[in-house]
Amino acid sequence: MLTAEENERLTRVGPGTPMGNLMRRYWQPIAAMSQLEDRATRPIRLLGENLVLYKDRRGRLGLIGDQCPHRKVNMVYGIPEDEGLRCPYHGWLFNHEGRCLEQPYEKAEDPFEAFKDKVTTTAYPVQELGGLVFAYLGPEPAPLLPRWDLLVWDNVYRDIGMAVLPCNYLQIMENSVDPVHAEWLHGHFANYVWEQLGQTDRIRPIPAHQMIGFDEFEYGIIKRRILEGQTEDDVNWKLGHPLVFPNLLKVGGFQYRVPIDDYQTLHIWYYTYAPPAGTHVPENEPIPFYQVPVPELSEGGLPDWSYLDFTAGQDIVMWYTQGAIADRTSESLGRSDKGLILYRQQLMDNIAKVERGEDPMNVFRDPGENEYLRLPTEESEGTRRMGATGQLGRMASSAGAAGGATKFSPVLNRGDGATAVTAEEVLTGD
Ligand code: FES
Ligand SMILES: [Fe+2]
Repeated sequence: MLTAEENERLTRVGPGTPMGNLMRRYWQPIAAMSQLEDRATRPIRLLGENLVLYKDRRGRLGLIGDQCPHRKVNMVYGIPEDEGLRCPYHGWLFNHEGRCLEQPYEKAEDPFEAFKDKVTTTAYPVQELGGLVFAYLGPEPAPLLPRWDLLVWDNVYRDIGMAVLPCNYLQIMENSVDPVHAEWLHGHFANYVWEQLGQTDRIRPIPAHQMIGFDEFEYGIIKRRILEGQTEDDVNWKLGHPLVFPNLLKVGGFQYRVPIDDYQTLHIWYYTYAPPAGTHVPENEPIPFYQVPVPELSEGGLPDWSYLDFTAGQDIVMWYTQGAIADRTSESLGRSDKGLILYRQQLMDNIAKVERGEDPMNVFRDPGENEYLRLPTEESEGTRRMGATGQLGRMASSAGAAGGATKFSPVLNRGDGATAVTAEEVLTGD
């Protein structure tokens, strides 16, 4: 249980809030590069700020305030130029640093253009890695963009799924250190969904958790479990899914939980796939983008079973039905929740670090250290034993497992034999 004050401290992400200040120390993914293929601008809301991401005609990305500083129109209507984005209303032109480069009529009356240097707009640095666009809203100097393993692997197909979820990021992240929900939500509840859908052949026995454990490691928290029939020698106990501080989970693929504001989260599913045997991924292969549907209650407030037959759909309803911001002053945590308590403590500790003027966890400034950030997971050892979808896939025993990727993945649904890949040893097999 938290006090109302602690809950506010951990959930509010707007400018100037303690958690907002912590989240601003990290590069946050905001879009897929492929979303800018046929559109030069996209509206972005990140950490409570309204912005416009654009690609100019030379291909340079910029992220600027959504309102033109002249008379406040929305720059999502902006015209991309060779350098920068031009406001559609009176033609003022802004570059990726927020500088005003041109004010066409002002120049007609003042050839010295004294006014334009006095006008700036909000601008934040952006970088592309692995097909994702990342933004940094924090104080300069910006740290390095972390090169987490899946983002930089060679010779894999990738796809990027997204959904805007109507709740605060924290209840989504807490799910990442809650091993027991996999047994119930993706096990027994999934079985019940199959029953409701008349697909009783998909109902499977579900092994119960015997023990759960959590370790802090250099990048966050590793969660571990022993299921019925397993021992402490089992791979799930020795290795688990890493929660990468502050808002990334690696479970096969990556799941980023990016706070849009206090009440909404951009959820990104980032998966990698081995090419069909004997083939290689072509250079510059575009990374497809897909939308993951958010299950809603159907008319009369009843569950709609057809959107609950995949793990992400099951998770999503558990996340947002806690409320836009879960009321942690009236929760009743049990022994299954020790991972949540540890994660909340890590968040508090790192808020305190920022307040002391220190870099929080996972802020990298040394390029040597950032060349390749390997995240250990149970799949690294367990792929050969459990299959590429890993533990959750086995538990849910369904084609819709693996966090939503399997059901909606454009790469897997292509049907050319590409397979989900989660471990380096699979890649070297060619
Ligand atoms: S409102 Fe943008 S140039 Fe006038
Ligand atoms: Fe889940």
